[in-house]
Amino acid sequence: MWKFLGHKDNKNSSPKDVQLDYSSIPTHIAIIMDGNGRWAKERNLPRSLGHKAGVETLNKIIKEASDLGIKYLTLYAFSTENWNRPPEEVSALMKLLAEYLKKQLNELHKNNVIVRTIGDISKLPNICVEVLEEAKEKTKNNTGMILNFALNYGGRDEILYAVKNIFKEYNEGKLSKEDIDNLAEQDFSKYLYTQNTPDPDIIIRPSGEQRLSNFMLWQCAYSEFWYSNIKWPDFTEADLHQAIADYQRRDRRFGGIK
Ligand code: FPP
Repeated sequence: MWKFLGHKDNKNSSPKDVQLDYSSIPTHIAIIMDGNGRWAKERNLPRSLGHKAGVETLNKIIKEASDLGIKYLTLYAFSTENWNRPPEEVSALMKLLAEYLKKQLNELHKNNVIVRTIGDISKLPNICVEVLEEAKEKTKNNTGMILNFALNYGGRDEILYAVKNIFKEYNEGKLSKEDIDNLAEQDFSKYLYTQNTPDPDIIIRPSGEQRLSNFMLWQCAYSEFWYSNIKWPDFTEADLHQAIADYQRRDRRFGGIK
């Protein structure tokens, strides 16, 4: 079993680890898992081995986030633009995804994790769709951390998807012109892939890049950003703690004043 914190006796804490305020752990952390390719290049390894190392990190960070009591963890695993990569890299990523889920599903389930996805997963290879559907079905009644994989996901695509769904409901008579005129932001949010998920409190992007890359464009309106030069395969539990500790020192005003 994962340790299910244990705040004081968190065995993963390194001596250099930061002190966290366990009374204000963020509800939703979203991570852009970046830098696998550069990590591999620095070691003269093929990019696919960078992604393989990235899966090891993903596994560690999922456990740690769950142990910390994070309620939602969203991981940007494959964007709508990632199809533009060489076909060998795309298939290596798909294979890793399917292998990861096959191998870890029982452990995720045992640890009460709920697996969900955002993005149009129907365009993924069948093997991925099958394991993802199995994972979602098997874990849907769990009550622990919601682990959200962003797959074939793009923020712009998601907004279009929402608009098209609204139009569809209008055509089917489920929404009237008046409903659309009165649509509030929180109503629109329900048409996004994220539906009733709260917006991310913090978006973490390792690897030195400081951009959103089409990730959660609607949802990140008031998210805190955290960047670091560490490449994803080298990202550790202590880095996650550091990001949370930095987040805890931020002054979130949501456009208001204190
Ligand atoms: C970005 O690194 C990473 C990705 C596009 C994919 C992230 C995927 C994984 C961590 C593993 C597979 C996923 C699952 C869910 C098992 P990059 O290739 O853009 O790195 P670079 O910017 O250094 O080239």
